[in-house]
Amino acid sequence: MADKSLLQDVASRPGSQSAAGARHDSQPSGNAQYQASRFVRACLRQPVDRTPVWFLRQAGRYMQEYQAIRRHHSLLEICKNPDLAAEVTITAAEKLDVDAAIIFADLLLPLEGMGLSIEFQAGEGPAIHQPVRTAGDVDRLRTDRVAELGYVAEAIGKVVRHFSTRIGIIGFCGAPFTLASYIIEGGGSRNYVYTKSFMYREPAAWRMLLEKLAAVLVEFAAQQVEAGADAIQIFDSWAGALSPEDYREFVLPATKLLVRQVQALGVPVIYFGVDTATLLPAMRETGADVIGLDWRIPLDQAWAVLGTACAVQGNLDPIALFAPEELLRRRVHQILAEAGGRPGHIFNVGHGIVPGTPVENVRRVVEFVREYRQAPETGSGRGPSRA
Ligand code: CP3
Repeated sequence: MADKSLLQDVASRPGSQSAAGARHDSQPSGNAQYQASRFVRACLRQPVDRTPVWFLRQAGRYMQEYQAIRRHHSLLEICKNPDLAAEVTITAAEKLDVDAAIIFADLLLPLEGMGLSIEFQAGEGPAIHQPVRTAGDVDRLRTDRVAELGYVAEAIGKVVRHFSTRIGIIGFCGAPFTLASYIIEGGGSRNYVYTKSFMYREPAAWRMLLEKLAAVLVEFAAQQVEAGADAIQIFDSWAGALSPEDYREFVLPATKLLVRQVQALGVPVIYFGVDTATLLPAMRETGADVIGLDWRIPLDQAWAVLGTACAVQGNLDPIALFAPEELLRRRVHQILAEAGGRPGHIFNVGHGIVPGTPVENVRRVVEFVREYRQAPETGSGRGPSRA
């Protein structure tokens, strides 16, 4: 099948590395000076001077600067215009003073080149007008038009030129299951009836669909890494809808393949999902360098389940950003105490920042992370140096 060879092509690309650092590999003259950012070091579980922090959906509707651009451009226009996408990315990262910038784009962009038409309707989330419902529909999906996504890589190049190695630059893509669920449902879903029915009743076509997605996604990730992304985050936002058995049987193989192929590009992979407490052992089997946690499980419990051979990212409830300052500080410090100063923690929210979030509270979280000092010896952290 053409898709498999496509995956192999990318993996065997000359210059593919298993260690991080693709950015400086593509800039030979900068090699000697390259200093991995604290974000990249944390992804690799190396010691850092302080815990790096960034936020899921840090550039979005809660921010005035984004709203101002959004008044004149649709979401897709912003994504497809490298100047605008870079501007939105840079403005948010500068304003929040975070340790990493995630490129402004959307999970669903690669679906267009596969032959699907996507639309973002105000207030209703994305819609895909001709959902995939049969094996024949899967056959018709194209995997040969990934080059059309070049605008994302171009935007990353601009962000890299702005920040150089000052902070980490994160590229991203969807995971096969989460994208398959959009393709099959035609949009967001509560019960995933069409998705799971297809998975149970058409296992061969399901496998083909996930493999086609993985082939497209690894090529998309490769463009982003070549443009200078330091890490790739794979969003499996809706994996929590699955039982561990279904996840292992129907989703893990293609996801593991994608994770390994992206790692072969020479960057660490962050694999993120929501409502995943019972899926963590299976998610760990993908081999991702970092697992993104939602807020429903205490970080120390999650890390114990995952084992210390992997890094973790998270896991403040994004709605805690609406809480009074002192409560917010306690929640932030609690998470840092649970991380216990072990190398390999990246502070983040457990899911995206929502519209209406006070920007000043997001900035405060950055300060709360910076002021925190682990309690000596105990490793359990007793709070801030200022207390
Ligand atoms: O800085 C950033 O983090 C923003 C970049 C970003 C967007 N989408 C822009 C966007 C990222 C990382 C995404 C990923 C994404 N897109 C996910 C995974 C993240 C997650 O939350 O788990 C998903 C599931 C999508 C698909 C998608 N795009 C949905 C479900 C929606 C509607 C959500 C809503 O709140 O209305 C979008 C639209 C979207 N993508 C917006 C933004 C800023 C808001 C719409 C707008 O500006 O008009």
